[in-house]
Amino acid sequence: MTLDSMGHWRRSHSCGELGVGAAGTRVTLFGWVDRIRDLGGLVFIDLRDRQGITQVVVRAGGAEDLLEKSKQIRPEYVLGVQGQVSHRSLETVNPAIPTGEIEVLAGAIRILNSAKTPPFPINEDSQASEDMRLKYRYLDLRRGRLQRNMRLRHQVTFSIRQFLNERGFLEVETPVLTKSTPEGARDYLVPSRLHTGKFFALPQSPQLFKQLLMVSGFDKYFQIVRCFRDEDLRADRQPEFTQVDIEMSFMQPETLFDLVEQMMSRIFAVAGISVVAPFRRITYGEAMARYGSDKPDTRFGMELADVSRQFAASQFRGFQEAVQSGGSVKCISLAGGAAYSRKQTDDLGEYVKQLGASGLAWIKREEGLKSSLPKAVSRSELENVVQKAGAADGSLLLLIGGRTRVVEESLGALRLLLARQERLIPEEQQHFLWVHDFPLLEYDEKEKRYFACHHPFTSPADSDVDLLASEPGKVRARAYDLVLNGTEIGGGSLRNHRQDVQRQVFKALGLTPAEADKKFGFFLEALQYGTPPHGGIALGLDRMVMLLAGEKSIREVIAFPKTARASCLMTDSPSEVDAEQLKELHLKIDA
Ligand code: AMO
Repeated sequence: MTLDSMGHWRRSHSCGELGVGAAGTRVTLFGWVDRIRDLGGLVFIDLRDRQGITQVVVRAGGAEDLLEKSKQIRPEYVLGVQGQVSHRSLETVNPAIPTGEIEVLAGAIRILNSAKTPPFPINEDSQASEDMRLKYRYLDLRRGRLQRNMRLRHQVTFSIRQFLNERGFLEVETPVLTKSTPEGARDYLVPSRLHTGKFFALPQSPQLFKQLLMVSGFDKYFQIVRCFRDEDLRADRQPEFTQVDIEMSFMQPETLFDLVEQMMSRIFAVAGISVVAPFRRITYGEAMARYGSDKPDTRFGMELADVSRQFAASQFRGFQEAVQSGGSVKCISLAGGAAYSRKQTDDLGEYVKQLGASGLAWIKREEGLKSSLPKAVSRSELENVVQKAGAADGSLLLLIGGRTRVVEESLGALRLLLARQERLIPEEQQHFLWVHDFPLLEYDEKEKRYFACHHPFTSPADSDVDLLASEPGKVRARAYDLVLNGTEIGGGSLRNHRQDVQRQVFKALGLTPAEADKKFGFFLEALQYGTPPHGGIALGLDRMVMLLAGEKSIREVIAFPKTARASCLMTDSPSEVDAEQLKELHLKIDA
């Protein structure tokens, strides 16, 4: 088959815009063959481009060779078509697509390129494996679903830029080759050819640069920026992802909450969803106590009940000891769960054990009370627990005792698992939540030192600064997270704008003044030149678009994502490099 050239043809319309108003018009369309139906003397070609699909008809009786030519055409061939728009007959009208009332009677067709048979069909219900989709991502991206996701992503970033520009924010680009800013993950390192043995780090976020821009007096900054983190991946994490990064001087948290709430209303309007502001606010402590999570999904109830008092003097040693040693006993109650089998409750027990809980006890409220607790636990004890938990008839109560943190986190995970299994989550609702009053530091038992819960540049609450030296674990942070339907979509804080406070935080993190100077000397120096009080937030763009698009993974809203093992199947990266390249960098692989 010989291929045609485009010649001087110019596109007159896209494949998504012709309606009955255009009947009689001569048009030139370009696109890919979505589907082709050969009825002998009549060939139908669905021509597809980014904007939509137009039906092209080739009839017998027209130019002889046109019908012949159309019989060589296969799906995904690239065509140019010239012809006349005409009404479809009533029985062939397709109300499902905007161009469904017309067709184009082909007068000339140019086959601009052929295509191999794609490894999976380019249509909506393609069941191709994710690996296959990622290997041929350029074909996957031809599919309507991904085209819609990419368009949505563009509209979201466009509306963010417009919104922040209207409010006086400047977009400033910060370096990609930089020094490591710890945000809790590992850095991607880039060896320097000119400085043997030295490395740049790709930014985990532009945290220090945006703070420095406040020192420079930029007042209101934003950037839609790529960040890089070498961490364990999940459905909502990628090694490179995009943040909407914001920083402001002379702000109060309320200023920022207000700004972000208005921005969310603007973003969600893009998808036709209205957002109710102001968003609910909840402290970290309350979120953990009521939902067992610092990013609770509040679209459903099943809150944790504290039944520690009910077991404080229990005959059941396990729970009694948990309470006496400063821990707790807590439970959740699943309506209708009394019908769960032994196998089902055993499986739930195994699940929480994997999360670190010592076990799971249950009480069923059906025709009296049944329980997995030892016989020594009296009926009145059980009744007190059921009453405290407010469990209705037919409920299953699931109880865990132990260290409060472990109890809460395990029940929080169980709450989510059960809600998903039992379909208790109203998926169409949007529940935004500000979580605030996080602890500043967290003690790591293994490493025997404190870590920053957010990052080391977060300011302690004014009233807690004195506790930094004496009781670091009790210091509250002026930090906040934005949560949507159980996903953390943003995090930020007020910063340490005074050098002495920043030094105290570094000290509480176990850094000597010399270590602090080595790592952050440039920053500590800058803080001394008139740094204004400031703060900000970064929102996860991929996660927001994922939720807006109703997708379960951020890979569906990123054009060229990495796999869950942080590799690119299409380009086959990361890959080995030439010995020559390594030599130039003075690097040796010690495999
Ligand atoms: P934080 O680390 O909380 O804060 O990140 C902000 C938001 O970025 C998103 N996010 C991710 N999205 C996809 N893949 C990842 N691996 C990933 N990691 C984070 C989340 C998260 O809420 N410098 C601070 C912000 C600040 O204090 O202003 C920071 O980066 O939605």
